[in-house]
Amino acid sequence: MKKIKLPEDFLFGVATSAAQIEGGAYSDGRGTSIWDEFAKRPGMIGDGSTPEKSCDFYHRYPEDIALANRLNIQSFRFSFSWSRIFPEGYGQINEKGMDFYKRMIDELYRYDMVPNATLYHWDLPQALEEKGGWLNRDVVEWYGEYASLLFREFGDRIPMWATINEPIATYVGYAQGIFAPGHCSEAKGRQANHHVLLAHGEGVRRFRQERMGDSRIGIVVDIWKHHPYRENCEADRLIAELENEKTYRSYLNPIFVGGYTDALMNYMSETGSMPDIREGDSARIRQPLDFFGLNCYNRVLDCADKSLIEEERKQKRMGGNFQDNGAEFYPKAVYDAIHLLEKDYNIKIPIYVTENGTPSYNEQPGEDGCIHDKNRIEYIKGFLYWIQKAVKEGHDIRGYYVWSLLDNWEWNSGFYSRYGLAHVDFQTGERVIKDSGKWYARTIKERAFDYEPGE
Ligand code: FCB
Repeated sequence: MKKIKLPEDFLFGVATSAAQIEGGAYSDGRGTSIWDEFAKRPGMIGDGSTPEKSCDFYHRYPEDIALANRLNIQSFRFSFSWSRIFPEGYGQINEKGMDFYKRMIDELYRYDMVPNATLYHWDLPQALEEKGGWLNRDVVEWYGEYASLLFREFGDRIPMWATINEPIATYVGYAQGIFAPGHCSEAKGRQANHHVLLAHGEGVRRFRQERMGDSRIGIVVDIWKHHPYRENCEADRLIAELENEKTYRSYLNPIFVGGYTDALMNYMSETGSMPDIREGDSARIRQPLDFFGLNCYNRVLDCADKSLIEEERKQKRMGGNFQDNGAEFYPKAVYDAIHLLEKDYNIKIPIYVTENGTPSYNEQPGEDGCIHDKNRIEYIKGFLYWIQKAVKEGHDIRGYYVWSLLDNWEWNSGFYSRYGLAHVDFQTGERVIKDSGKWYARTIKERAFDYEPGE
């Protein structure tokens, strides 16, 4: 048994998002988002649920932030609900929505928790979707107006800002139809993504314009690196290569290098999915950033012979994340991602692991009233071990956020996948801290945990 230590100034947090925890979908003048509307369509959400109430964080935030404090959480990552601020997407501000975030941030300060805010975590106002959503280039301006308002209102109170959480979700929503708003065309997916990237650049530009003092801005991208399933199999290698191009590289290249890779350009032209890219777009997207938010859950294995991995793939269906494979435990994924960021993109800014976690299905308290989620503890330990190794080797990793504080509304799997450190009874609203929550609280306090190498 080894003692694994994290540095004294390493930041431990939890990550959440508005659409998944807030509920209050129709409270105090909020407009609906694409996820509220998508969830109403039959068959789109695994258990037929909607995010209308979810964890009811909108009303219960004092209790939930107190719970986070009991877990010794140092930083709370959350997102703003755009349609709570601008019910129509732009124009008229909903003051009651603004007030909610002011009260919520006060509550974080009560416990000295560092607010880490995301401007956009997948929940576009429905009113904007009706104007074309992410396919309409005007969305860049709409997003800009929204971003500027939040920077002005909350600038000095929020030290960490992210423009976008996982831009790939927009691709999934416009190309694959399994996320909101449910379009199914590769060309739409690529166009929507191009606009998301432009919005990111616009957000950073406006942030600099507002002169935000010591606050920092970055973006959160998920890296699920694709590997060939069979070693030395050229067919598998080619699939993995293309998937890497279509996923994380299609964001990291424009953000850090400038423009799309030749391989992606070829793919888009061959598949008739080339977006409308205008002069100057590349420079607008590629803006200097203050930190990088890395979401990392696993790697993905690709195999040209589908029958070989069919069984594993079946299990990947419900996971809340379109590539969540749940099947393989590969915590080194985070170490590989850190190396890739430095080697392929030469990033010289601090990295925060802004999400990492694992789902359980139908997890309920046992007869003793507790939840013994040993798997989740082993999973987190594995990732923290590799993060700690990277820190020791001199990589600039400043913090780690567990996804998530609470079981919540997990997008298209509804309430079926539970990722929380605390269990939520969605009938009564009762919260119960799981064993993983207790373990995390101890780890944060001691800044160390016991680990059996190979775990
Ligand atoms: C990430 C999302 C987050 C949640 C977790 C499980 O991809 O950012 O909202 O769905 O997966």
